[in-house]
Amino acid sequence: MNKQTIYIGNLFPQLLKEVENYRAESLFILTDNNTNRLCLNHLNDLNILPENIIEIKAGDDNKNVEALTSVWQHLSSHGATRKSLLINLGGGMVTDLGGFAASTFKRGLEYINIPTTLLGAIDAAVGGKTGINFNGLKNEVGVINPSQSVLIDVQFFRTLDHENFLSGYAEMIKHGLISNEKVWNNILNFNLDSIDYTLLPKLLKESIEVKQEIVKIDPTEKGIRKALNFGHTIGHAFESYALECGQPKLHGYAVAWGMISELYLSYKKCGFDKDILRQAVTLIKENYGALEITCKEYDLLYELMTHDKKNEGDGRILFTLLGGIGDVRINTDVTKKEIFESLDYYRDSVGL
Ligand code: GLY
Repeated sequence: MNKQTIYIGNLFPQLLKEVENYRAESLFILTDNNTNRLCLNHLNDLNILPENIIEIKAGDDNKNVEALTSVWQHLSSHGATRKSLLINLGGGMVTDLGGFAASTFKRGLEYINIPTTLLGAIDAAVGGKTGINFNGLKNEVGVINPSQSVLIDVQFFRTLDHENFLSGYAEMIKHGLISNEKVWNNILNFNLDSIDYTLLPKLLKESIEVKQEIVKIDPTEKGIRKALNFGHTIGHAFESYALECGQPKLHGYAVAWGMISELYLSYKKCGFDKDILRQAVTLIKENYGALEITCKEYDLLYELMTHDKKNEGDGRILFTLLGGIGDVRINTDVTKKEIFESLDYYRDSVGL
């Protein structure tokens, strides 16, 4: 996989440098209607032709083939070439879809990601996964092709509401658990009640490096990249369940709740330390509240887990678990009984 440069700091001078170095024949910017309104003015001095600004509708529902076609159409009718550069300005939806559009248009042009959400900066913009939802399935069609660079400016995150900040922070909690004690302790000690934006870049850098190191070893998720799915098997089931009930929850919240159950499974099956389990559960419980479930929902949640992309089609549900901080155990087989027990643990922990 190509090397992906991550820059965290003052956005505009770095972007200018990148654009000059690249010597693009033309520049295009992809935004959604929110980032067009709220963030695009930070790039005014790039003097991008107004007709090269592409806007799609915000929201995961619009991460679809129609929006993708509209981006290809725009690039095509405005003379984009293989030496054009596409700048994706937005959250995960924009960087995923824009990355896929750039990777496929004329068999691939370079692109830069400027994530405007914490979740996007920690996860979607980094590591090269691009794609769209298709046939009712999330990220069903796409390619792995990293952006030239990822430019992160925490000024964008100041405008996020606290819930969206926490949603991104959940992936940082995950990165702490799958890496080492130092990263974990920094995550644990960051004050979420009064966010220190001068400290955040250091924490972000450390956290993104966790992902980059893993992706460098296994870009196509044949093995250790599955570490990044910790908390997601049960987390995705919670997320889908909440959506089905008409009460959608932010991705990071679902992952945080999923981590409670998966840490329990890690303790039970892999000897994960009980004190660290308690630390993590307290952090999640105090900040993320709870998704209300009863034991009547267990069968449905189990059924949702059978669709997880990590499974190998033989009926088993495969988890990424932890034997300790940074001791990642991928493809761990977990029985239905153990999963139900972990859901009991989740409910007890969050006081349901
Ligand atoms: N979102 C997990 C990954 O990029 O592998």
